[in-house]
Order: sequence, then structure tokens, then C-alpha cells
Amino acid sequence: MSRGSAASASAQAAPAAAYADRTVRLFALAAVVWGVVGMAVGVFIAAQLAWPELNFGIPWLSYGRLRPLHTNAVIFAFGGCALFATSYHVVQRTSQTKLFAPWLADFTFWGWQAVIVAAAITLPLGYTQGKEYAELEWPIDLLIAAVWVAYAIVFFGTIGKRRVRHIYVANWFFGGFILAVALLHIVNSAAMPVSLWKSYSAYAGVQDAMVQWWYGHNAVGFFLTAGFLGMMYYYIPKQAERPVYSYRLSIVHFWALIFTYMWAGPHHLHYTALPDWAQSIGMVFSLVLLAPSWGGMINGIMTLSGAWQKLRDDPILKFLIVALSFYGMSTFEGPMMSIKTVNALSHYTDWTIGHVHSGALGWVGLISMGSLYYLIPRMFGQTRMYSVKAIELHFWIATIGIVLYIAAMWIAGVMQGLMWRSVNPDGTLVYSFVESVKATYPFYVIRFAGGLLYLGGMLLMAWNVVKTAMGGDRAAALARAVPVAA
Ligand code: HEM
Ligand code: HEM
Repeated sequence: MSRGSAASASAQAAPAAAYADRTVRLFALAAVVWGVVGMAVGVFIAAQLAWPELNFGIPWLSYGRLRPLHTNAVIFAFGGCALFATSYHVVQRTSQTKLFAPWLADFTFWGWQAVIVAAAITLPLGYTQGKEYAELEWPIDLLIAAVWVAYAIVFFGTIGKRRVRHIYVANWFFGGFILAVALLHIVNSAAMPVSLWKSYSAYAGVQDAMVQWWYGHNAVGFFLTAGFLGMMYYYIPKQAERPVYSYRLSIVHFWALIFTYMWAGPHHLHYTALPDWAQSIGMVFSLVLLAPSWGGMINGIMTLSGAWQKLRDDPILKFLIVALSFYGMSTFEGPMMSIKTVNALSHYTDWTIGHVHSGALGWVGLISMGSLYYLIPRMFGQTRMYSVKAIELHFWIATIGIVLYIAAMWIAGVMQGLMWRSVNPDGTLVYSFVESVKATYPFYVIRFAGGLLYLGGMLLMAWNVVKTAMGGDRAAALARAVPVAA
């Protein structure tokens, strides 16, 4: 296939069908709201790590309860709503047809919001299964399963009634994400309930750990990566008005990525009771993962070739392209951290937190924001956001915030690792643990400042979105919709 031919055909589709965009609008707005909430909780727990008095002695405000609230809010509420919005938007445009069963899509919206609200109540109350990123108790897990099945029906139903033969590559990534998350959720959440809000995992001991980190790593691979790559493959070509650099590479990227991710989970369990050979398999597959990850990144960035000058004036493209740079950075760092000897230093330190947030703030956050800035005005009958200057400002504050956050955590992490392993000639430790905590204090303050900037950018986005949605020229939107629907 020639360079981007199918991509341009699908991505520039001018469909002759009305679309069901109500759910897209709702999810897009919800993503912005939950982004603000989840990041505000992140900033609050970052402050607690620097100034522990902020626990106020209140159990439901304690760090241990708010931390999972943060991770669930940013990953599943902010990231999840952005994924629902964009996948429903993209699948309709690239299939040139309306959503399959729009009422079921509405159910996914209200069902997902119910999951989020239930999480926001139960996690601070201390109800948890204690599995990272899978903390929610079994009744909420059942609701998640129901919403996810509905999501799969709507998404694949729409693909099934598409009016073009080709299935555009973004849909492969969204589809892979939907199927893999269903599998991960069902297997890892299998549990025996003992009361309404308490259950025990179906697995025990090291098997439980292995299943959990098979889930955990693939939550990164599919929830935090594959779906967002779907966004990349649609919104970068659209915003840059260029075809995907290499459509052939995008297909190789898809299959190589989904095959490799599945095996890398054991790198979370180095030097544990997990058999050594399983840890080594995890390490080797993590190293291999560098290739498809970078192949995809290069494919996205090179889509701009011949149009680099657009980056200068277009803040949305800045969001999308810088997101890819952070994707490249964190997918280089991850394989390095999976090498056992490197992990011996990085594990348990803030280096891991720096890695997480270069992926989370840099990749997941920026690609979602860029895609939403493209999507939202179009969903409200506008051609562009209310203030383009505010998008530019958002980009810079967010980027400075990320750099402060991750640089502080990298330095703190390496410092902690080195302090913990320093020994005197007689074999005793050079530093006590408390000394390493004291040495980390300034870095926690810098991380807090970086988080505050990132949150500030998100608040600016929320203002811009409200203005765009309220100022939306509804009459123009309707006028455009009528001949299309006719
Ligand atoms: C204003 C922005 C944010 C701030 C200030 C922030 C702050 C924090 C803090 C303080 C922690 C706990 C670190 C620790 O336990 O030592 C954390 C954990 C985490 N955050 Fe954020 N965060 C932000 C945004 C995000 C976003 C947007 C995402 C995902 C899309 C994210 C994903 C995570 C994850 C996955 C963890 C758990 C990391 C681990 O267990 O290794 N965060 N965050
Ligand atoms: C080639 C790709 C990647 C590889 C091989 C990789 C590898 C790793 C490794 C080795 C760790 C440390 C495990 C430990 O010591 O406990 C880790 C942690 C983590 N990574 Fe990555 N990473 C990759 C990409 C990403 C991306 C793109 C993101 C985010 C969007 C991300 C999110 C995370 C999270 C959330 C954790 C913390 C898990 C936890 O302990 O709670 N990773 N990763």
C-alpha cells in the first residue's frame, strides 16, 4: 500500500450519514470535568507527601485512601471518558455510518459515570480489593463488566454496519483496547464475595501477584496506550491535514504491540517469589517492546513530514506531537527499567513515579487534551475553540509542569536508590531510611509545584471548553446537519 493512501481515504472521509454525537459530547465534557477532579486529587496527595499534616487526622482524607482515588479518577474517569468520546467519534467518521444502537451508547455514558461516582464514594471509605488499578469492590466490578460489554456491542456493531470496506487503523487500536480490557478485567477481578463490600481474590500467593501484574501491565498497554494510539492515528493526520506517514507500518505496529505487551507483566515482580525464568521472560519482552513502541511513535511524528512549519502556529498539533515525544521517552525508559539490574535500583523509588507520570502526564494527558481540543468545537457547531491563545498557554504551562514533575522524581528516585544501597565497610547502612525521606523533601515540593501548573492548564482548558460549548453556533450546526440527515 502506498504511503498513507488508505489512511487518507478513511481519515478524510466525507460521510453521507448523520452521526449520533450526543454521547460523544457528553463523554468529552465528562473527560474535562474528571480531568480537573482527578488531577486536583493528585495535587492534594502530592502536597500530603511534602506536608503530611494535610491528612488532618481524618481517615477518608488519608493518603492511603486518596491515592487510589487519584489513580482511578485520572485513568478510568479522565482517560476512560476521553477514550469513549474519541472512539465513538472516530468509528463513525471512518466507517461513514451512525453509531450502532445509540441508546446503548447512552447507557455506556450513564453506566460509566455511575462507576466513577461509586469509586469516588467507596475508595475514601476504605472499601478496596487491594489490587492496584483494580481496587473497586465486586458490585462495581459487575457494573464495569456490563458497561464494557455494551461498549463492545456499540463499537463493533458500528464497525459491522460500516459503509466502507476498509477498517481504518485507529479502529484496530480502539477495538484491541476494548477486547483486551474486557479480558483483563474479567480474569483479574475474579473474586469470592463475603459481603456486599468485601471479597477475596480467586487466586492466591504468587499466582495472585502474577495475574495482578499481567493485568497491571496490560492496563498500561491497553488502557493507557492502545486506545490513545487510536487517537493518534486519527487526530494527528486530521489536524496536520496529512496522511499517516506509513500505513503499512501502522499495521505492523498494531500486531507487534498487542502481541508483545501481553508477556511483559513480570517486570513488575523482579526479585520476588515469582520464578526467575518468568521474571526473565518479562524482561526480554519488555526490551522487545521498544521496537513497536518506537515504530508507532516515528509513524506519528513523521506524519508531519513536509508540514513541520505547522507546529509553530498550531497549539493543538503541539499537544499531539509533544505527547508522542513523551510516549517515546517513557517507552525507552520502561524497557531500561525492566532490566533486572536497573530495576534493583529503581524499584520502590520515586523513579517509578517519574516514569509513570512521563507516560501519564506527557503521553496520555497531552494526547487526550489535543484530541479533545480538535473534537469539542466540532461537537458544538464551532470550527475552533473559543480561545486559541488559551490552548497555547495551556500547552506551555502543562509542559513546564511535566518537566518539573518528572525531573524532580527522577533525581529523587536515583538518589533514594543510591542512598538505600550505600553500605559502610563493616556492612552497616550509611543512611537510615528517614534520612532518605528528609533528602527527598525538596523534590516533593518541586513535584507539587509541577502538578499545580499541570492542574492550572487543565482548569484553563475547562474554562475554554465551557466558553466554546456555550458560544457554540447551534443554528449553524443544525443548518449543516439537515442536508446531511436528509
Ligand atoms: C496534576 C497532575 C498530577 C499529580 C500532581 C499527580 C500526583 C501523583 C502522586 C503524588 C502520586 C502518588 C505517588 C507515590 O505514591 O509516591 C501519583 C500516582 C499515580 N498517578 Fe498521578 N498525578 C497527576 C496526574 C496523573 C495523570 C493525568 C495520570 C494518568 C493519566 C496519573 C497516574 C498516576 C498513576 C498510575 C499513579 C500510581 C503510580 C504507581 O503506583 O507507581 N497521574 N500521582
Ligand atoms: C515499552 C513500554 C514500557 C515498558 C517496557 C515499561 C516498563 C515498566 C517498568 C519496568 C516499570 C517498573 C516496575 C517496578 O519496578 O515495579 C514500570 C512501571 C509503570 N509504568 Fe511502564 N513501561 C512502559 C511504558 C509505559 C507507559 C507508556 C506508561 C503510561 C502511560 C507506563 C506506566 C507505568 C505505570 C503506571 C507503572 C507503575 C506500576 C505500579 O507499580 O503501580 N509505562 N513500567
